[in-house]
Amino acid sequence: MQGFQLEIFPEGPVLIQRAIEIWQARSAAAIRERGRFTVVLAGGNTPKKLYAALAQTPGIPWQQTWLFWGDERYVPPDHPESNYRMVRETLLEQIGIPAAQVFPMPTQAGDPLRDAAEYEATLRQIFGAECPSLDLVWLGVGEDGHTASLFPDTAALQVQHRWVTVGQKGQEPRLTLTYPVLNQAAQVVFLVTGANKAPIVKEALTTEAHLPCQRVNPRGRLLWLLDAAAAAQLPLPCVPLLS
Ligand code: 6PG
Repeated sequence: MQGFQLEIFPEGPVLIQRAIEIWQARSAAAIRERGRFTVVLAGGNTPKKLYAALAQTPGIPWQQTWLFWGDERYVPPDHPESNYRMVRETLLEQIGIPAAQVFPMPTQAGDPLRDAAEYEATLRQIFGAECPSLDLVWLGVGEDGHTASLFPDTAALQVQHRWVTVGQKGQEPRLTLTYPVLNQAAQVVFLVTGANKAPIVKEALTTEAHLPCQRVNPRGRLLWLLDAAAAAQLPLPCVPLLS
């Protein structure tokens, strides 16, 4: 794995506050340089607190922010498992972001491959033919080392010629951004919390690359943003004495 930054915080609001600071810093720089901020949202449970806190944070430049998803379960957008629904409920319903700047992954064609191609076409319409360098990509990590919907031992891990592909969680299809897009990002942040993630965090940060999350090596900055519980199995001196 390339070099990465590691930040560890006590559980709770301090970690989320740091995540918001990162969001604000990256968005200010992107808007200053290019007039807009492109951010990829992680799915799952971990980022819910971040999105809910962002919704309550004054001064976030939503009018210049463009939201994308890193992956999506192949369910309707109002399904309880939908990452779009999770973001709608925790964030979108509270903020005034222009709908034309919100790009959920489509899941209604009845064919994941078609929907993956449609999302890629949307990205190409926005960014052109060159693989985009998205400003900030939020990712989580599963206990098996997957990230986005790039699961161990699946074909999606090998996809280099597409920006969006079909991931497989067992028999369950999912849409996911691919490594070419993730690794073109200006910054990737793995936001990982909870004692259940401590073993995979230790494996991801202390072993040779063999997990999907370890193949995320962005051209820009890579940060692992952890709470103390998720960092608990890291070898000292990684784990600062958290008073
Ligand atoms: C998803 C995510 C997935 C998630 C990890 C961690 O759609 O579930 O994109 O990659 O980040 O599975 O999930 P938790 O945050 O729920 O532990």
